[in-house]
Amino acid sequence: MDTIQIKDKTFAVSIHEADIQREVARVASEINRDLEGKNPLFLSVLNGSFMFTADLMKHITIPCEISFVKLASYQGVSSTGVIKEVIGINEDLAGRTIVIVEDIVDTGLTMQRLLDTLGTRHPKEIHIASLLVKPDKLTVPLNIEYVAMRIPNDFIVGYGLDYDGLGRNYRNIYTVVD
Ligand code: IMP
Ligand code: MG
Repeated sequence: MDTIQIKDKTFAVSIHEADIQREVARVASEINRDLEGKNPLFLSVLNGSFMFTADLMKHITIPCEISFVKLASYQGVSSTGVIKEVIGINEDLAGRTIVIVEDIVDTGLTMQRLLDTLGTRHPKEIHIASLLVKPDKLTVPLNIEYVAMRIPNDFIVGYGLDYDGLGRNYRNIYTVVD
């Protein structure tokens, strides 16, 4: 399937499954190397990172824990990351090594908000693992240590990422065709 149609938009495959899997395995090996002995707590940010998280964790061989968080916009605020609320963290983060697992860092505002919120819970350190980064759109300085792939500014779907809720199920990544 090289082209898919979602609502009004056509998408063409831009990153194939095999390339995604290779880079995800590489990121996992970097984490295994860097965080050995730290019993990291992986915090997977739903919904978008569910597929990345599953594949990443299959390659993590050091002792670790995993939990899932969801970011919720307050009512009436657009999804531009202005105000976000973190729900679903029941774990005690004090003194822990945290690895945030995200699908994509675009402007970085969502990640900044999450870092601020997690920081109030006194973790020992917070690392970021993101499947994708759009470096040209980053508006806040972030140290994203673990990046599977850097991509241009175009809108993409697949492998967990959606357009209007659709397209998360595809195993390749697709870029919008205009
Ligand atoms: P940021 O706050 O601008 O970094 O945006 C982060 C969120 O925007 C991601 O977690 C995604 O949910 C969404 N997003 C950004 N770019 C894309 C894209 O190309 N396709 C699908 N979702 C995207
Ligand atoms: Mg996300």
